[in-house]
Amino acid sequence: MKIYDGADFKLRKWSGADLDSLVKYADNRNIAKWMTNKFPHPYTREDGEAFLSLIANDHPVKVFAIEIAGEAVGSIGIFPQADVHEKNAEMGYWLAEEYWGRGIMPKVIQEVAAYGFQTFDIVQIFARPFSSNLNSQRVLEKAGFTFEARIKNAIFKNGEMMDELIYVKHND
Ligand SMILES: CC(C)(COP(=O)(O)OP(=O)(O)OC[C@H]1O[C@@H](n2cnc3c(N)ncnc32)[C@H](O)[C@@H]1OP(=O)(O)O)[C@@H](O)C(=O)NCCC(=O)NCCS
Repeated sequence: MKIYDGADFKLRKWSGADLDSLVKYADNRNIAKWMTNKFPHPYTREDGEAFLSLIANDHPVKVFAIEIAGEAVGSIGIFPQADVHEKNAEMGYWLAEEYWGRGIMPKVIQEVAAYGFQTFDIVQIFARPFSSNLNSQRVLEKAGFTFEARIKNAIFKNGEMMDELIYVKHND
């Protein structure tokens, strides 16, 4: 399944054949430092296999591989919430470091946000970057998200306390 097929990148379902490229690019401290601990460092083949089998049978698809030059070089997921939060979905993403700074992720986020609003019965999509993650905040702004809230000292990562920021995109 493919939701975007441009000259710059493709957005498509992850497959078991992506394991090598997943581990090659995800095994990076500069990515892991901005992610929750579910995204480990080092990132091993076992971590990659667990991730791919966890999402393999998702319906509708919630996690997409970002493919460039025939390789899966990043990931983006959109996760509808439960209970009283059911009208919200959370978005999370990462990109291989060698592709940073080319404006890829703002476009990826906009494509997956459009998919999310078409596919799920939600009114808004949110993302929760750490306060020191200026690149992700910049990306969210470029993708049409607005800063909504700061939760002080919500994050403890690698021995450091940080605030958590909430960015939101409404269905408009
Ligand atoms: C955040 C991330 C997805 C950005 O993707 P991207 O495709 O590089 O986004 P952009 O090209 O729009 O660059 C965003 C900002 O990163 C900074 N940047 C650009 N090139 C960079 C580079 N080579 N190295 C570090 N930062 C760079 C710039 O400040 C840029 O903003 P600008 O366009 O106003 O100059 C990517 O850096 C990443 O995967 N980071 C680690 C994981 C992460 O933070 N995930 C999100 C958790 S909330």
